[in-house]
Parts: sequence; C-alpha cells; structure tokens
Amino acid sequence: MKVLIINGPNLNFLGKREPEIYGKKTLDIINNEVEIFGKTLEIELSFYQSNHEGFIIDKIQEVYTEIDYLIINPGALTHYGIGIRDAILSTNMKTIEVHLSNVYSREEFRHKSVISDICIGKITGFGSEGYKMALQYLSSLKK
Ligand code: DQA
Repeated sequence: MKVLIINGPNLNFLGKREPEIYGKKTLDIINNEVEIFGKTLEIELSFYQSNHEGFIIDKIQEVYTEIDYLIINPGALTHYGIGIRDAILSTNMKTIEVHLSNVYSREEFRHKSVISDICIGKITGFGSEGYKMALQYLSSLKK
C-alpha cells in the first residue's frame, strides 16, 4: 500500500509555531516518526509540504495514479481551499483528513472544512498521533 502525506501552509513551522496548540515537534521529527510507524505496518510512505495551494494541487495531480491513499492536513486551506477539494474530486483520491489541534474547540471559522464530506474520515485533536491513527486505519483495510 502506498500513501502520500501532505501538509499545507505553515505546517513547516511546527515546533516554533504556537507550540501550546500544535506541540513542540518539528514536521521533520513528526514525518520521521510516522515513517517508522508506517514501516511496521508495511505501508510505503511519501511526504509533501507546501505553503501554496497550487503546488499541493500539482502534487495530487502528479501522483494520483501511483498512490492508494492520501492523508492530508491542509492547514488553513482546510477552511477555504476549494482548489484542493476539486483536486481530490478530480482524481478520485481516497483521502483522510488530519488536524493536530481539535478544530472544534477553536474559533468558529475552523469548524468548517471544505473537504470533510469527500473524505473517508477525519481525525482532529490528537496531535501528531493523528497521522499514525490514519495509517493504522488504512492498515486495517489490508486484512
Ligand atoms: C490545523 C488547523 C487549521 O485550522 C490551521 O489553520 C492549521 C493547522 C491543525 O492541524 O490543527 O494550520 O490544520
């Protein structure tokens, strides 16, 4: 099973960005931990981060025939990134939405996601464990 994990705007700043909300780990540390976990599940992982919606769309269009599932934390684009929604729909990418923070315990504008209804499911509020939880679920589909 091949899975791509995409992180959107400002997630490259994890570690220094509002650590009381997003934790102290950098994205490199998180990706490394997630990669090790993926190996135990025999899931082949690739990672991509961009601060730009168009680059994220380009990436999805580039790899959709090669990967089985997409795990995405679109950052702020979650709430208004219709282009990402359309890329997921256009490519029929089977997708899981992940957020580090619990978006429902925060500002109201974060309660709305433009992709939740087209995703398999959504994990929010479990910090970086959320990426692993998504992988754990995908691994259960292999059985
Ligand atoms: C986030 C939540 C978003 O509202 C925010 O804009 C982010 C991170 C999360 O992982 O909790 O950039 O997606």
